[in-house]
Amino acid sequence: MEVADAMRTQHACRYYAPDPIPDEVLYDAFELARFGPQGGNRQPVRFVVVRDPAKKRQLAEWYGVPWKAYIDAMRAGVEATQADDEDGTAKATWAGHAQLDKAMTDADHFAAHLAEHPAIIVVCADLAATHPTDTELGRLSVVGGASIYPIVQNLCLALRNVGVATTLTTLLVSYEPQVKELLGIPDDYATAAHVVAGYPAKPFPKKLTRLPVEELVFADTFGTPISRDGATAA
Ligand SMILES: Cc1cc2nc3c(=O)[nH]c(=O)nc-3n(C[C@H](O)[C@H](O)[C@H](O)COP(=O)(O)O)c2cc1C
Repeated sequence: MEVADAMRTQHACRYYAPDPIPDEVLYDAFELARFGPQGGNRQPVRFVVVRDPAKKRQLAEWYGVPWKAYIDAMRAGVEATQADDEDGTAKATWAGHAQLDKAMTDADHFAAHLAEHPAIIVVCADLAATHPTDTELGRLSVVGGASIYPIVQNLCLALRNVGVATTLTTLLVSYEPQVKELLGIPDDYATAAHVVAGYPAKPFPKKLTRLPVEELVFADTFGTPISRDGATAA
């Protein structure tokens, strides 16, 4: 498929068919993904593809703990906003509520069936081989992730190219010590994400919901939107 089509439709898949991903399909996706960039080309990322049913069950059980806390907090937040709206004028946000509610229902189904999804790919990273340049700024350091997540996104796109859907998750990272022990991950590796992969049970979306370019990209000064014909709004 065209790269552009893969980029537009590589979504967070919530419903998977039970069919396994053939070994060669997985292998070839990793073979492409490995070309992702990393600081100093130090290649800090390793992957563990978990397909063993008992190990997936254990991962799913752990995942359920932060997931439940997350969805309870999200639902409480939505209910509070809905209560505000009943007293006020923000009726326009109801469409947003409906969308959010569906997203949460779908993600809840995804969590409840995590052990049944065909593969859970654990992203491991040797943090000493990342190259964070923002550790002295007195804010959360994020640059190390730039040596990790490009290859992960490459993997998701490479799989999308051959009709395999994925979901990038990070909630299970809070169980890093347990996950490392379960999978024999060496001490010097951290876990950075868990990517669920499998053939989708529903068609891929035609296009994802994201900010328009004008809200995302600025010309020369933050806040000045770019436009396709080069003109910038005053
Ligand atoms: C950094 C990151 C962490 C995420 N963690 C989780 C997660 O733990 N659980 C989950 O169900 N989805 C997770 N997601 C998926 C997002 O919810 C999803 O990408 C987002 O809602 C957009 O979905 P869409 O691409 O289908 O439009 C994560 C995505 C990213 C990029």
